[in-house]
Amino acid sequence: MRKQIAAANWKMNLTITEGQQLLDQLLSHSYDLNENRQVVFAVPAPYLAMAQAAVSEKKHIHIAAQNCYNKKSGAYTGETSVVMLNSLGITHVVLGHSERREYFQESNQFLAEKVNIALEHQITPIFCCGEPLQIREAGTQNEFVAKQLEESLYHLSADELKKVVIAYEPIWAIGTGKTATSEQAQEMHAYIRQQLAAKYGDAVAQEITILYGGSVKASNAQELFSQPDVDGGLVGGASLIADEFKVIIDSLK
Ligand code: PGA
Repeated sequence: MRKQIAAANWKMNLTITEGQQLLDQLLSHSYDLNENRQVVFAVPAPYLAMAQAAVSEKKHIHIAAQNCYNKKSGAYTGETSVVMLNSLGITHVVLGHSERREYFQESNQFLAEKVNIALEHQITPIFCCGEPLQIREAGTQNEFVAKQLEESLYHLSADELKKVVIAYEPIWAIGTGKTATSEQAQEMHAYIRQQLAAKYGDAVAQEITILYGGSVKASNAQELFSQPDVDGGLVGGASLIADEFKVIIDSLK
């Protein structure tokens, strides 16, 4: 089976004390986790060391940065490098979240460079893609997402691609309470897998974890995650509430 992942995206929320309390509440509960059923917490950069220490004894629970830069080190005030993430023991990084694409003008080409540097440093990119509302309304979401994948990922070898986790997040569903229906999610996930199969072959495509993101909550996680091509979720708002995120973790296939 492919890896199933419940990934929390705290975005720019919580004080460090609130973050610690949330992790305490979540980590005091036991989950049925294994190599193919994992949890990731993407926390703000100032909390990476705290969060990494909190999960250090936990198997199959990982910490992710919410971003990294495309250079290893140097005069780039305010940026976080993959070398820094390595030095903290951080294993994952969210790349290309729609908020970064929109507010910080991150292009597909720039994201390709970030994917490369993450992979060069053994950090798993959680690569986000997804269309805005007007594209969905025009019915061209497949072409839009295919271009994001092509321009940021298709330069990778099959072995490299297998190390990437993809997160499909339709922008119209993020933070809006408007979740894609499980049919809409499945349809796009199957399309993404089909595209990957066309480029890399079916065996490779079958191995790639594709998360759904956009208003995932306790009440809809199981229905979404039960879709054959949905391998878990990237969860914003509901990941800030312990009782919600616990149910979401337990909803993994
Ligand atoms: P949401 O955010 O769950 O609050 O919609 C998801 C995301 O942006 O990753």
